[in-house]
Formats: sequence, C-alpha cells, structure tokens
Amino acid sequence: MDATRTSPGDPDAVPAVAPRGELAARHLAMPAHTNPTGDIFGGWIMASMDEAASMTTTRLSEGRAVTVAVSNMAFMQPVKIGDAVCFYTNVKRIGRTSITLDVEVWVLRHGYDERIKATQAEFTFVAVDDDGRPRQIKPGSTQ
Ligand SMILES: CC(C)(COP(=O)(O)OP(=O)(O)OC[C@H]1O[C@@H](n2cnc3c(N)ncnc32)[C@H](O)[C@@H]1OP(=O)(O)O)[C@@H](O)C(=O)NCCC(=O)NCCS
Repeated sequence: MDATRTSPGDPDAVPAVAPRGELAARHLAMPAHTNPTGDIFGGWIMASMDEAASMTTTRLSEGRAVTVAVSNMAFMQPVKIGDAVCFYTNVKRIGRTSITLDVEVWVLRHGYDERIKATQAEFTFVAVDDDGRPRQIKPGSTQ
C-alpha cells in the first residue's frame, strides 16, 4: 500500500501513515489556483502552508512571527480541483526566539474520497517585536 494514502472504506487496509500535528487550516482547491496543466499550482500550496504555520507560531509565540527558513519542501502527489486541502502543523523545536515545525498537506480527493499526503516541508519562524527584531518566546509554550 502506498504510505501516502489511506482508504477509509477498505477493511483490509493496513493502517497507513496519518497526518501528524494539529489541523491548522483547510481550503477548497479552486480553479483559480491551477497551473497551466490543470493541477493546483505549487506556489499556492506553499503560500497556504506558510499561512497555516504562521497561525500556529503566532498563537504559540503570543505575537508577531515571521518566516525565516523553509527546507525539505517535497511535492509527492498532485492536488486537484475540488480537493479539500488540509494543512497540519507539528512543532519540532521551540528555541529562544524561533519555532521550527513540520507542515504536512493532506487532501481528501473530491472533498470526500481517498485521503492522500500531497506535500510536506519544514518551516522556521522567528518571533519578532514591533520593530521586527527577534523577541524571546515565553518558556513553556506548547501546542
Ligand atoms: C527573522 C529575522 C528577524 C531574524 O533576524 P536575525 O538577526 O537573523 O536573528 P538571529 O540571528 O538572532 O536569529 C534568531 C533566531 O532565528 C534562527 N534562525 C536565523 N536564521 C535561520 C535560518 N536560516 N534557519 C533556521 N533558523 C534560523 C536562529 O537560530 C535564532 O533562533 P533561536 O533564538 O531560537 O536560537 C530576520 O532575518 C528577518 O527579518 N528576516 C526576514 C523575515 C521575513 O520578511 N519573512 C518573510 C519572508 S517573505
């Protein structure tokens, strides 16, 4: 079985890899988000991952936070028009001023069908003050 897919209706299915972390955002893939070949544009997915991670880090750091690095971006499966696109954030490390988290994108095909892991990446955000300078995150912040 493909480890990036789950089949809720298949009783013989081996439990597949499931999303890790919290559901930080969910969007409907619309025609406006497509690339010239008709699949959903990777840039829209990346921006939506950044938005989802931003909401998690803003909450955890209790204030403004900016993206400082993105790594290991991988697009494993295409996203199609009509898919329900779910963005999961899983905190890996909270430093003095930075938060590093994995963002996983899972889609429900057509909004109800097979669940597929489409994209993943690691994001690092820095908590900043009103002047854009790094500020310390309160110790003990958790998901
Ligand atoms: C984010 C920013 C304020 C950090 O400033 P800085 O002077 O580099 O800050 P520091 O060197 O003190 O590092 C702050 C934290 O970021 C981490 N960091 C800095 N660069 C990093 C990188 N490339 N990858 C991972 N972590 C990084 C540091 O390890 C440190 O973490 P810690 O305090 O938890 O140990 C500054 O780089 C910035 O304003 N960048 C632009 C942000 C932005 O506009 N984002 C939107 C992109 S369109």
